[in-house]
Amino acid sequence: MSRADWPQGWGDLYEPMSVCPRCPELVKNRTQVVAGDGPPDARLVLVGEAPGWHEDQQGLPFVGPAGQLLDQLLRSVGLSRSQVYITNVIKCRPPQNRDPLPQEVENCRPWLEAQLARLKPRVIIPLGRHALVWFFPQESIARLHGTTRRREGVVYYFLYHPAAALHQPSLKRTLEEDFKRVPALLAEAAPAAPDKPQPEQLSLF
Ligand code: URA
Repeated sequence: MSRADWPQGWGDLYEPMSVCPRCPELVKNRTQVVAGDGPPDARLVLVGEAPGWHEDQQGLPFVGPAGQLLDQLLRSVGLSRSQVYITNVIKCRPPQNRDPLPQEVENCRPWLEAQLARLKPRVIIPLGRHALVWFFPQESIARLHGTTRRREGVVYYFLYHPAAALHQPSLKRTLEEDFKRVPALLAEAAPAAPDKPQPEQLSLF
């Protein structure tokens, strides 16, 4: 991802993120920081775990096999990537795609917090266990997938991680089923603004 692709007005966030020094092992091994991708006014934000090899190479989240499945799932419900913001709990690829260490998750926490503070999404979909526990520690994805929680005006909808689904056909079927609920949740949480003032509003003037 080049600077030209950074959301307009977000340079003050992406610039320091792109040179983040907080996790020495990740800094040493990364090709680049993978900040996130999508429009700054996205109503839906998807949060994965960490960049993998493809993401590290391209500087974009979810562009490898798991990303292809995610694109397919979005398309299956009439959404495209250009309508959603996608990011990860940690922004640098862990070596050999190991799980992020608790300290790395904590070091990276302020970046995701800052992104969410700017985006102010109506719906957040944590993908998989690492993203789920970032928002709701102690919870289990096997128990919560396909369910929602509302907190501070945001609807959270929990889904299995697409990479896990690629390895287990039964999880893939579950993820496909769970995904079907996304449009209804979005419509409920973020109804489209009316084109014209409604009659009741007009009568106020
Ligand atoms: N898996 C993730 O969690 N994030 C990515 O960006 C790619 C694969």
